[in-house]
Amino acid sequence: MTFFVKPVAPDRLPDLLRQMPKAELHMHIEGSLEPELIFALAQRNGVTIPYANVEALRSAYAFTNLQSFLDIYYAGASVLRTSQDFYDMAHAYFVKAALDNVVHTELFFDPQTHTARGVSMETVVDGLHRACVDAQKDVGVNASLIMCFLRHLSEEEAFETLEQALPFRDKIIGIGLDSGEIGNPPEKFARVFARCRELGFHLVAHAGEEGPPAYVWTALDVLKVERIDHGVQSSKDAALMQRLAKDRIALTVCPLSNLKLCVFPDLASHNLRQLLDAGLAATVNSDDPAYFGGYVNDNFMQTFAATGLSAQHAYTLGKNSFDASFIDAAAKRRYNDQLTACFEAFS
Ligand code: ADE
Ligand code: ZN
Repeated sequence: MTFFVKPVAPDRLPDLLRQMPKAELHMHIEGSLEPELIFALAQRNGVTIPYANVEALRSAYAFTNLQSFLDIYYAGASVLRTSQDFYDMAHAYFVKAALDNVVHTELFFDPQTHTARGVSMETVVDGLHRACVDAQKDVGVNASLIMCFLRHLSEEEAFETLEQALPFRDKIIGIGLDSGEIGNPPEKFARVFARCRELGFHLVAHAGEEGPPAYVWTALDVLKVERIDHGVQSSKDAALMQRLAKDRIALTVCPLSNLKLCVFPDLASHNLRQLLDAGLAATVNSDDPAYFGGYVNDNFMQTFAATGLSAQHAYTLGKNSFDASFIDAAAKRRYNDQLTACFEAFS
């Protein structure tokens, strides 16, 4: 049943966007490493980074496309060595998420970028999992983990990564696919995703960020994912838009990421409104907030300001975020009730 939201004056909309409870479903935990923490961890671990200071590192964050970002993102992640490093990184994100009224989040992590440097899967998962457990009691954020395969690597390497993760299977709710998209279509990982499906993992994949609508089709039909990460290129294919709307496949959209990686020339040109108005289950997320200039509420506020989205759109985005999450039906109902109560109290 649709909840009709009373109109909210434009100058009050940012308060509503800040206050509304929300789930964040597209958030790479390594993308939350702020330059200050990169330098602190580099010092703690005796790692050298090729920037003189925090300002010099931050000023290198001028990206022209996805690959130009990934090069610096993997370099930043190289300061992570111990379980405590992973804990500290995730804890810092949870504190910020709580301030944005994120009540539930499903975090991506990229183990292959760490295991390639000799950091064990156990170290990575242990630190992140401990931080997830503490997030609930320390800041009231419910959190779980989605392990991503790097799509620029081979399917064989993805299988090896899956093997390494199986002892920690109870700490991982899902499997994702990320890294450089163009030239690495979803079907490259058909067999390993089929195995993950047999093992009972939830499945998601980045598709249609820079890559064509064809990659969204194969993520759905070959990998059989439950959500598409980004998916903004889907608006180039009318039949795909109908499919996504009909099957209520959620798109985890990241507007500031799309802006910083030059997917759209400016936020006013972003197609979030088009996706929502076509009946797609779009959500708003931050992707790699330390690199893209904002956490999830910055994404909401800047996108609403640039595109003129309404309080009704805000409610839909909040509800989509809970409905698309991998929590049980009772938890979805509880969060959606909190969302409705927030909107009622606001008017
Ligand atoms: N890894 C971290 N952020 C990513 C993005 N936006 N696309 C693909 N891989 C990523
Ligand atoms: Zn992403």
